[in-house]
Amino acid sequence: MQKTLIIFKPDAVQRRLVGEILARFESKGLRVAALKLLQVGRALGEKHYAEHAGKPFFEGLIDFITGGPVVVGVLEGNEAVAVVRSMLGATNGTAAAPGTIRGDFSSSKQNNLIHGSDSPESAAREMALWFKPEEVVEYAIAG
Ligand code: CMP
Repeated sequence: MQKTLIIFKPDAVQRRLVGEILARFESKGLRVAALKLLQVGRALGEKHYAEHAGKPFFEGLIDFITGGPVVVGVLEGNEAVAVVRSMLGATNGTAAAPGTIRGDFSSSKQNNLIHGSDSPESAAREMALWFKPEEVVEYAIAG
C-alpha cells in the first residue's frame, strides 16, 4: 500500500466540491488515512510549493492557496500516487481530459481544484509538512 497527499484547494472548498471529489477517490478504492480543514499561512504555502519559487505564477499561486481554507488529506491504496495523479488529469483544466476531476470541473491553470503528490518522494515530504505522524492513522478495513 502507498500513501499520497491531496489538497482540496480553496476553489474546491468554495465551490462545495470536496465531498464529490473525495467520493471519486473512495469509489476507486483509496481510503482516507488523514483529513483536515485549515487556513494555510504564507510560510506553509511557500514551503509546499518551493519547487515553483521564482516562476512567474509563484506569487499568484501563494495568494491563491492562502486565499481561503483548504482540506488536506492523505489517501492510501495500491499505487496511490499514480492513481490519484491520473484521476486529477492535466494541470490545466482546459487541457484535462473529460472524465478526470480537472477535466470535468476546472477550466483554469491555477484554480485546478486539487493537488496530488507527483512521486512517492514528494508524498513523503508533503505528508511531513502538513501532518504530524500521529495524525496519519493506520487501520484495518473489515471484510
Ligand atoms: P499543482 O498540481 O498543485 O502544482 C503546482 C500548481 O501551480 C498547479 O497545481 C497549479 O495550481 C499552479 N500552476 C501551474 N502552472 C501554472 C501556470 N502556468 N499559471 C498559473 N498557475 C499554475
